[in-house]
Amino acid sequence: MKIAVLTGAGMSAESGLKTFRDSNGLWEGHNVMEVASPEGFKSNPELVLDFYNQRRQQLLEVHPNVGHTALAKLEQNHEVKIVTQNVDDLHERAGSSKVLHLHGELLKASSTYDRLDVLDWRNDLNLGDFCKQGYQLRPNIVWFGEAVPLMDDAISIVEQADIVIIVGTSMQVYPAAGLIQYATSNAQIYFVDPKPSINSSEKITVFTEKATTGILKVISQINKAL
Ligand code: APR
Repeated sequence: MKIAVLTGAGMSAESGLKTFRDSNGLWEGHNVMEVASPEGFKSNPELVLDFYNQRRQQLLEVHPNVGHTALAKLEQNHEVKIVTQNVDDLHERAGSSKVLHLHGELLKASSTYDRLDVLDWRNDLNLGDFCKQGYQLRPNIVWFGEAVPLMDDAISIVEQADIVIIVGTSMQVYPAAGLIQYATSNAQIYFVDPKPSINSSEKITVFTEKATTGILKVISQINKAL
């Protein structure tokens, strides 16, 4: 089976990474627009770089959870492609081999001159860290108001899927939230979230569960149906 897995912040919540909208729109104490928009970066680059430095340090201290691991194991029997809104690398560390990061990656930096100039970056990123052409580097994150370059690839993954599994997203941020519309009428859709934003229907089976327990239930249902 071709399985597309769409994951959001809830996927990594049980690894210890905070979601965005579970704390009144504040993300680790910051207004999201202050730290995740080009305007925020322009008005206070040091604050934004420091914020992502903290996120990067935190990421290196956490581990994939059993949900990440179960999705990686699913590759043994299926063609699994993950489209994640998360900027962490927990799917990769769990062993998933096909992961598309719709909103960028925390462990990469890109040039403010040429966004396609991307470098691996595991340490702190500071003012004065330049690309080869001498321009300031920034976190390789898709901020609010910026284009989502991998959207077409994500759409094609969903269009080709027999099964779509959605995990831990509030489905509030577009265009990512619109991906579900590209599932074919034959595709079976599963949605795992303790506070799901959509209801069960003929086409969508909702598991009101955390990622770690819900994903195992989805996989067992898929295996039963085969
Ligand atoms: N397991 C599964 N889901 C969970 C868990 C858990 N343990 N804990 C919380 N959730 C769910 C919440 O119920 C919520 O529906 O995860 C979802 C998190 O929603 P958001 O915080 O809005 O995260 P997400 O949908 O990934 O945000 C999308 O917004 O700020 C931007 O670019 C950022 O990629 C991010 C995008």
